[in-house]
Amino acid sequence: MLKLNDLGFSRDIITETIVTTYNFDNTPNAAPMGTTLLNSQMLILRPYVVSNTFANLKARGVAVINVTEDPWLYYSTAFKEEACGKLHGTFRKASVVNAPVIKSADAWVEVVVGRIVTPAADRAEVTCKALRIHARKKVPQAYCRAVGATIEAIVHATRVKAYLEKGADEEVSKLMEKIKYNRDVVNHVAANSQYAHIMENLARLIELWRKNRESLC
Ligand SMILES: Cc1cc2nc3c(=O)[nH]c(=O)nc-3n(C[C@H](O)[C@H](O)[C@H](O)COP(=O)(O)O)c2cc1C
Repeated sequence: MLKLNDLGFSRDIITETIVTTYNFDNTPNAAPMGTTLLNSQMLILRPYVVSNTFANLKARGVAVINVTEDPWLYYSTAFKEEACGKLHGTFRKASVVNAPVIKSADAWVEVVVGRIVTPAADRAEVTCKALRIHARKKVPQAYCRAVGATIEAIVHATRVKAYLEKGADEEVSKLMEKIKYNRDVVNHVAANSQYAHIMENLARLIELWRKNRESLC
């Protein structure tokens, strides 16, 4: 039988996943979230308290934790306004919990929410118990640096958005440097690829956020 650590979850490591839940209106919601192993049956999520995922975890008490390395899924679920309906058809219902699953995920864990604590004002700690673990057979893929670099840039971009809203210009500059480094990696190993396309979209989005902020000042 599959165990959580077979999927790469570990006590001392933050692994990146996409958490899927149903919204109040029963539409599917998906968001990238870091996940850590607590013990052989439990995982910990740390959602920001303002996130839809946190509201859904509290209200529904169940979720699916999807395992994927697909940068497009990270991009389109972190910046849902960019997906423009392209997420339609991405989900189906899980087998034992009332939550959606990403159909193309490499593996997924159906979970029930346990303890919720808020050690920091802005971020919660949500303990999830695995009820069922599924994994697909997958042909090994040769490692491409652009995959990690693109996902890394997406993480930084989610923070750029938050810091721009707070007017924290120094933090924004530091993150932009990191995004540039990752964009250079992508352009070096995978120019004209789907990864380069995501990086272009990120640059366009950040420009848009900057303009919106300037128009508010
Ligand atoms: C790889 C990756 C990991 C992330 N990890 C977290 C996390 O652990 N907690 C969190 O609140 N947001 C995290 N984020 C940001 C959220 O996914 C992002 O803010 C998202 O828009 C929240 O969507 P929601 O409001 O539908 O929950 C992460 C983003 C990426 C790209």
